[in-house]
Amino acid sequence: MKLKSHCTFFQTLSSIARKRKTGPQCRLWSSDRPTAPLGARILTDPKKVFEHNMWDHVQWSHQEKEDARKKAIENSCVQIPLEERDKYDKEAGKYWDEFYKTHQNKFFKDRNWLFFEFPELLSHRREGFGVEEGQCNVAVPASKNNETWKKMNTFPGSEATFRIFEVGCGAGNSVFPIVNALKDKGVFLYCCDFSPQAVELVKTHQNYSRVRCHAFVHDVCEEAATFPFPDESLDIILLVFVLSSIHPERMQGVVNRLTQLLKPGGTLLFRDYGRYDLSQLRFKRGRCLSENFYVRGDGTCVYFFTKDEVHNLFSNAGLNEIQNLEDRRLQVNRGRGVVMRRVWMQSKYHKPLAHSDP
Ligand SMILES: C[S@@+](CC[C@H](N)C(=O)[O-])C[C@H]1O[C@@H](n2cnc3c(N)ncnc32)[C@H](O)[C@@H]1O
Repeated sequence: MKLKSHCTFFQTLSSIARKRKTGPQCRLWSSDRPTAPLGARILTDPKKVFEHNMWDHVQWSHQEKEDARKKAIENSCVQIPLEERDKYDKEAGKYWDEFYKTHQNKFFKDRNWLFFEFPELLSHRREGFGVEEGQCNVAVPASKNNETWKKMNTFPGSEATFRIFEVGCGAGNSVFPIVNALKDKGVFLYCCDFSPQAVELVKTHQNYSRVRCHAFVHDVCEEAATFPFPDESLDIILLVFVLSSIHPERMQGVVNRLTQLLKPGGTLLFRDYGRYDLSQLRFKRGRCLSENFYVRGDGTCVYFFTKDEVHNLFSNAGLNEIQNLEDRRLQVNRGRGVVMRRVWMQSKYHKPLAHSDP
């Protein structure tokens, strides 16, 4: 599709949106876009925008990026006073605990896209992990964390051959799709959250199974806190909309610590908010804590990432990129006739087997 037709397309879409009292103008086109991952529903005819709830691989024009940048500058020009900022970091656990007391498990939707975007969760099937159940397949490196569990002699999931750990699991919107799908012997799922209320919601869920899952309260910003499994024992770490709720200055420490938990050859899977997502641009003045980091009305915080930032976080921890994508979509509220531009980050990073492993 040539530039001229993009413009025509854009104008048509805009006029449809205006007629339906929509907000933002969007430019979309389909040529040369990958069909997967991140969805394959491409909007080619602007008249059809209200035929679906979501369109994939949306591109923004230079002007649209510039408008978004200006909006973000505008809503961050008044920051929360310095003396108040600390409490949102120090008491983050308390705010999230209150969130789950209020909303229980009714707020987030189940992450049913998990296996489509992250087929690595099923890689034990492909690679036929050869270790028999009952055998601990962890070569245990010396570390403080490992001393603790060694004293206990065994640990939850010690007999598994494929271990997944979800950090910041909340009410279990990723946990239960995984538990329900991965009934394979030898697969074990750990999940933690620093909100005791969230962990309680997971443990009392009808599908929670102690044979296949271990949920525990843990603050990943607490550097001295030990994990209930050894370092280098995990095949997959899942970070779904959790790193964004952590203070940007703490993120690198958290990623470094989590990397120690991965087996060499293990994979970290990440999905989170991207820079200039609708939810960033919607913030009113006075909610900004620092650049691209905001606090919501309920005291929970959120950061909006760029691709480079995500890459630096994981590569500084010694991980290698498999995928690092910006997922730009058009979300459509057909009932209200509103078109919304969403931006999410999706990344996969791999822990090298040895120094020579690319
Ligand atoms: C936006 S929610 C996402 C929940 C879940 N991952 C999902 O996708 O539904 C962020 C979660 O991260 C948890 N969280 C934030 N900071 C944390 C920390 N330092 N340690 C552990 N959990 C944390 C919060 O309690 C909350 O449950």
